[in-house]
Amino acid sequence: MSKFSAPKGVKEYFPPDSHKFEFVRDGLLFPARVAGYQLLELPVFEDTEVFARGVGASTDVVTKEMYTFDDRGGRSITLRPEGTAGAIRAVIEHGLDKGQLPVKIFYQGAFFRAERPQAGRYRQFYQVGIEAIGYQDPEIDVEVISIADQGYRKLGLKNFQLEITSLGDLQSRTAHKKDLMSFIGKLKLDEATLERAKLNPLRLFDDKREEIKQSMKDAPVLLDYLSKESAAHFNRVQDLLKSLSIPFTINKKMVRGLDYYTGTTFEFTHSLLGAQSGIGGGGRYDGLMSLLGGKEMSGIGFGLGIDRTILALEAESINIKNQNYLHIYFVPLGETAKQTAFELCVALRTREISADMAYGDRGLKGAMNAADKSGATFVAVIGDEEMKTGKVTLKNLRDGSTELVNLSVEDLTRFVEKIRITSKSK
Ligand code: HAM
Repeated sequence: MSKFSAPKGVKEYFPPDSHKFEFVRDGLLFPARVAGYQLLELPVFEDTEVFARGVGASTDVVTKEMYTFDDRGGRSITLRPEGTAGAIRAVIEHGLDKGQLPVKIFYQGAFFRAERPQAGRYRQFYQVGIEAIGYQDPEIDVEVISIADQGYRKLGLKNFQLEITSLGDLQSRTAHKKDLMSFIGKLKLDEATLERAKLNPLRLFDDKREEIKQSMKDAPVLLDYLSKESAAHFNRVQDLLKSLSIPFTINKKMVRGLDYYTGTTFEFTHSLLGAQSGIGGGGRYDGLMSLLGGKEMSGIGFGLGIDRTILALEAESINIKNQNYLHIYFVPLGETAKQTAFELCVALRTREISADMAYGDRGLKGAMNAADKSGATFVAVIGDEEMKTGKVTLKNLRDGSTELVNLSVEDLTRFVEKIRITSKSK
């Protein structure tokens, strides 16, 4: 038993399975890259106010789940629970909104929420996210949604669903809030729930308690209060989704866990994941820029959960192949052979041929075992005979075939490249 273990509720990815993480992260980001989104690398901690203001006082994230502490200078710091507030802080601070619009950025990395850990819910988890800031076009809403959709499809995922709604503009929300508050005013609620409702009455739609669920059954929903402009925008979003053949359903009671949402809002869920079925979500945020001290500028984005997407792929029994396999594994027998193997490894690597060798003095059997475990395509045993003749047998560990090749960087490179080309064209 190791003396230390990782903190409770964190998810770690290590060999031989960590390639799944890379596959999902890169696969989800690819559609964003080809749509012109560029990297924004953010700090994992920010001034607490960025999240307290940005994410909103009615949310569980801010009231219960933030990792907040004072740094050595007495400043209140919070580990990022999500990416959008920090991204907008950076956009304002670095004046990205003064350049080409929309500002299109992507990010990926670890996020932190002090939630009760369970399958698919961690205290440190991983997201990829994008934000498109500056314009209100419904086409941008659908661009963002379609990037997520393409990302999941690119990974091979099938059993996922898209739900959308609109939280409307200020006019829509004001009209709805008035009726919703008077509806809520007639319910018998405890003090804490009432306080929550005052901060954001939509939160009650998301309450897990059965009695609240029952009383909210006939509550007025925002979608019935959309202004003419918001309704037109939402209709256009639906038409565009249909034209791209992206299936969706409308969820009138969707409540996102963050307060900044306005207008188009969406969630992706996976039907085989049980309680933590949300694999990604996002939406538009009209007031966030000005709330954080910037211009009045609208934006839209998403955050996709890498951890849950991996679970979803596993639930669909999708086998993720390790693309980072080694090409050649050398097994040197003796000191001179060891130096030759070492020099060949270094030289091959500079030619982008991945190579490794058996270190330590394990003997032939142990070294061959290591070769098998390395996942390499070829193994090359270098002993006295090979050193003398300058030729080595490359054994293909996948099909058992063998080939005699000159023991030189050029010939080994040529051989691996030839195999690479033929296996690609198959
Ligand atoms: P979110 O819905 O809070 O949105 O998180 C996005 C995704 O992160 C979720 O759908 C889920 O897959 C994953 N996730 C969240 N919490 C956990 C957790 N504790 N453990 C594992 N996975 C988790 C946002 O974070 C927004 N910033 C998205 C956004 C970007 N909206 C606009 N722009």
